[in-house]
Amino acid sequence: MHKINYITSKGIIFLLLLFFDLCLNILFKNDSKEKIYFDTFEVYKLNEIKQKLSNTNCCQMWANQKEFLNGIIRKFKPKKIVELGVYSGGSSIIILNAIDDIKDSKLYSIDLDSGDFVGECVNKYFPEFNKNWKLFKGNISTEYIETIGNNIDFALIDTAHFEPGEIMDFLMILPFLKEEAIIIFHDIANQITVSIERNEWAPYIIFNAIRGEKYLPSGKYILKQDIGAIKLEKNQKKYYHDYFRLLGGEWQYFPKEIHIKLFTNFIKKYYDDECLIMFEEAVTFNRKFVKMNPKNILYRINSD
Ligand SMILES: C[S@@+](CC[C@H](N)C(=O)[O-])C[C@H]1O[C@@H](n2cnc3c(N)ncnc32)[C@H](O)[C@@H]1O
Repeated sequence: MHKINYITSKGIIFLLLLFFDLCLNILFKNDSKEKIYFDTFEVYKLNEIKQKLSNTNCCQMWANQKEFLNGIIRKFKPKKIVELGVYSGGSSIIILNAIDDIKDSKLYSIDLDSGDFVGECVNKYFPEFNKNWKLFKGNISTEYIETIGNNIDFALIDTAHFEPGEIMDFLMILPFLKEEAIIIFHDIANQITVSIERNEWAPYIIFNAIRGEKYLPSGKYILKQDIGAIKLEKNQKKYYHDYFRLLGGEWQYFPKEIHIKLFTNFIKKYYDDECLIMFEEAVTFNRKFVKMNPKNILYRINSD
């Protein structure tokens, strides 16, 4: 009799363990999200202009980067897009093509350079995209972002690549981004793929620091993927101080004094005193070392 009870209770424990294991499996399965690869999503839309674009020499992105940019826009269907860093307009064309049939979607592009070449490919090869495009050029984003306004739900940042470059540029649009906006950074792997000096750190640093869900194109590489997107975590304000701390690294160029002034005023308006103190500390330190050591001035267009 005792023996039967013993066997029965062992059996019950075994079944309970089995049940427990099954529950864990179900929970674990529900928790592990499948990876989304945007470079294969609605690629037909990009194919509509692929041939024409490849004849122009306009775009600085690799094929899978164009597909990634196209796919992620097609998936999230943003309405208000900001692009920092236009050059001749190659990435603007990819974006404008991707939003072509998305109702009320508009691209606002900003480039520091005021040259005629900025954005010229759009007007030259794809003038039909002009209807959804507004280009600002000749100054930093602080000077245009209020005109563009709030509720930006998508941004592409592809500017200086050297510090403080993209770190500062991101902070110039952050207060205007919608909750859970998508931000794409280009050239997030240049420090291990391109320059022999390995000095293009800004996109890598800011991409990794921003809090949110990260997406990369598919392929066998991970660290070497040179474009990446982030879906911002809600309530970014709690991370503002962390982002400003990133400015405390070694700057590789010193921005023009006028841009330092404009950004200082912007911080006073949209961030708190701690952010301002951190920026001023970073400016003081880097003004001394970067300006006094000309070999560190790598990015001459932005410097005095
Ligand atoms: C790498 S190119 C952009 C390429 C373009 N996104 C494409 O894929 O075809 C970088 C551009 O950023 C601009 N730039 C540099 N610093 C900037 C800043 N702080 N704000 C806006 N544009 C900036 C440069 O003038 C240059 O035209």
